[in-house]
Amino acid sequence: MQKIKIGLLGFGTVGSGVWKILQDNKVIVEKNCGYEVEVAKILVQNMTKKREGITHTDIFTDNPKDILEDPTIEIVVEVMGGIEPAKEYILKAIENKKHIVTANKALIASHGDQLILAAKKAQVELYYEASVAGGIPIIHAIKESLSANRIYNIMGILNGTTNYILTKMTAENMDFETALKQAQDKGYAEADPTSDVEGYDAVYKLTILARLAFGSYVPFEDVYREGITKITPIDIEYARELGYVIKLLAIAKEEDGKIELKVHPTFVPQEHPLAAVGDAFNAVFVKGNAVGDLMFYGRGAGDLPTGSAVLGDLINIIKKKDLQKRLYENGFDQNEKRVISMEE
Ligand code: NAP
Ligand code: HSE
Repeated sequence: MQKIKIGLLGFGTVGSGVWKILQDNKVIVEKNCGYEVEVAKILVQNMTKKREGITHTDIFTDNPKDILEDPTIEIVVEVMGGIEPAKEYILKAIENKKHIVTANKALIASHGDQLILAAKKAQVELYYEASVAGGIPIIHAIKESLSANRIYNIMGILNGTTNYILTKMTAENMDFETALKQAQDKGYAEADPTSDVEGYDAVYKLTILARLAFGSYVPFEDVYREGITKITPIDIEYARELGYVIKLLAIAKEEDGKIELKVHPTFVPQEHPLAAVGDAFNAVFVKGNAVGDLMFYGRGAGDLPTGSAVLGDLINIIKKKDLQKRLYENGFDQNEKRVISMEE
């Protein structure tokens, strides 16, 4: 079987999830993409850290050039997070004709247009399914499967950490700090959990979905945002007595050409399906004019669910790349016939 080499930028929660799935589901991945996927190099910050499950430590590097400038690496998976140097590294990889998979919602929300344009110009793919709602294939659903619909609204729970905290505070009377610490230990929270608990993470994800659903970019500074740090046990008890649970909801709607996006804690009736979404699960409701109401539900954070989304993108890129190669071999002009998958 032919081999395809990839490079990982980062080996934290998501990077190690990607690695684990590649080991555990090796045969499935190979069957579905037609190649043996070899992780050639992994960029990390701390070269002395013990990495579970990896014995050949020469796979790690702290020099990004070992991945970005290695001509044998065809796909770069960015799972390091943050804006810089992640953006610089992705742009360099694109310049060097490498396809990109990223889970970085902060980067896609803030510089997605620049990266998508750069990828389009370089004729490489840039996929970012894992940036929204962890393992739920919501980006593919909105971008591809629902593309014959006019989308009216999107509403749901888009942050696993805050949902974990609120679930623990509601069901077990756990205090905020203990619940946040547990969410961090389980790998759900961002490196700086302010992004989760103050609602920024959900705002990033909502702007990414809104851009795909409504075709317009709403700067995240323009999104109404309220996190969960002001919620007290008394608020939770008060909601319970009235028949509600508190959830951090992200809501996007288009009405008469106007787009409104907001993220805030909401009283959800106990009998509503969103009230039952516990732990770090996410749920997304989408209303389209042809399809009607849809609900997506699944793990919104964590190593394996997010790794699953990353590898789905990777396999799709490999399949597309292979299709293009075969078209080329069959006499089509590669540039003219190339399918550009990103927003045009
Ligand atoms: P993480 O656990 O903090 O891991 C980050 C990794 O990147 C670490 O291996 C770190 O190296 C490396 N790294 C960070 N900055 C670096 C730099 N400047 N140079 C070299 N290596 C660097 O983060 P994560 O939770 O896996 O998240 C990664 C990305 O996925 C983020 O964009 C996040 O928003 C997104 N995401 C996360 C989840 C989740 O459930 N955690 C879900 C969806 C999307 P060291 O190991 O040496 O420290
Ligand atoms: N910190 C994020 C969350 C990770 O808790 O939802 C998944 O994007």
